[in-house]
Amino acid sequence: MGIGSRIVGVGSYVPPKIYENKDLEEMMDTSNEWIVQRTGIERRHWVDPKSSTSDLALEASLKAIKDAGLEKTDIDMIILGTLSPDHDFPGTGCFLQAKLDLPEITVLDIRQQCTGFIYGISIADKFIKSGSHKNILVVGAEVHSKGLDKTPRGRGVSVLFGDGAGAVVMQPVEVNDPKKDPHLMTTRLHADGKYAKELWLPAPGMAFEGSERWSEELMAEGLHYPQMNGKVVFVHAVKRMAESLTAACKETGIKFEDVDCFLFHQANLRINSKVAEVLGLDESKIFNTIQDFGNTTAATIPLGMDEAIKAGKLKKGDLVASAAFGSGFTWGSAIWRY
Ligand code: ACO
Repeated sequence: MGIGSRIVGVGSYVPPKIYENKDLEEMMDTSNEWIVQRTGIERRHWVDPKSSTSDLALEASLKAIKDAGLEKTDIDMIILGTLSPDHDFPGTGCFLQAKLDLPEITVLDIRQQCTGFIYGISIADKFIKSGSHKNILVVGAEVHSKGLDKTPRGRGVSVLFGDGAGAVVMQPVEVNDPKKDPHLMTTRLHADGKYAKELWLPAPGMAFEGSERWSEELMAEGLHYPQMNGKVVFVHAVKRMAESLTAACKETGIKFEDVDCFLFHQANLRINSKVAEVLGLDESKIFNTIQDFGNTTAATIPLGMDEAIKAGKLKKGDLVASAAFGSGFTWGSAIWRY
C-alpha cells in the first residue's frame, strides 16, 4: 500500500507533587465531593516553583526516545503542543530543542490546546509521508498550575487542571495490510473560531485597545486567568467528539467493537461517559486518567497512552481510537494500530 507513519516510542512525565482535592478546599472554597461528583477528578500533579513546561516536555521526550530504542540525535523534528508556553515567544519547542541539545533540527509549535496532540501526530504523519523527516518527536506539555486563579473566584476552572507531559516518536513504516499493520490510519482535524471566547485566556493580548497588551485593570478583572463557559464546552465536547470519532471509524471501515482502547481527552469524566452513551461504546475500553491527573490539555492523550501501556491495557498491535475537544473550539479524532 505504501509508506505510512507509526508510533514507535511513548513516554510521559508528571511532577512529583500531588494535590488531592482536599488540599484545594480551603484555598478555593471548594469540596472534594463537588469536584468528584461534577468532574471525576480526585487529584492532580502541580510543579514546583522552578519547573517550566519545557522541563516537563524534556523528561517525557527522553523517555519516549528511549522507548523507541533511539538516540536523541536520531530525532530530526520536534512538534510541540501547549497552551501554557514557557514564554510568549519563541515557542516552547525551541526551549525543548535546546534542552535536548539538538541544534538545527526542525521545530514546530502548535496552539491547538486540548486537541494539540491529535493535530501534532497528523502533521508528523504528513511530514513522514512526504519523505522529508524520519524520526519525529511529538510532545504535549503543560504547566497549568502557575496560570490558575487559586482563589474562590477561580474555583470553577482551577480545580480542573493538572501539570504534565507526554511524548511519542513517530517513524515511517511500510504498510501492506492497512487493517492489520501498525500505523496511523487516519486523523480528522476541526476548528470553529466563533466559539473562541467560550474557553480562553484573554490577557495579555494585542487585541486590547490601547498601546499596551496588559494593564492593571485587566489583571484586577482576572483576565490573565482562563475563562470558561463550562456548560457550553460540555455540550459541544460531547457532540463533536462523538461526531469526529464516528466519521474516523466510517472512513477506515472500523466498527467501535473492533477498537481495543479508546484514548479520549480528559476534561471531565462525565463528558467521556456521555460520549460512550451516545455512541454505545463499551465503557470498560475507555482508558481514563482524569482521576489522578486532572485535565493536562495537550499532554493528556500521550500521557494516557503511556499509562495505558504501563497498566497492560494497551499492547503492541492493539487498535486505538482517540478523540479530543478543546479551546478554539478545536476538535478531532485519530485511529492507529500501535
Ligand atoms: N467547588 C464548589 N462549587 C463550585 C465550584 C467548585 N470548584 N465551581 C463552581 N461551583 C459552584 C458555582 O458557584 C455554582 O454555584 P451556584 O449554583 O450557587 O451559583 C454551582 O457550583 C454550579 O456551577 P456551574 O458552573 O453551573 O457548574 P456545572 O454544573 O456547569 O459544572 C463544570 C462545572 C464541571 C466545569 C462543567 O460545566 C463542565 O464539566 N464543563 C465542561 C468543561 C470542561 O470540562 N472544561 C475543561 C477544560 S476544556 C477542555 O479540556 C475541553
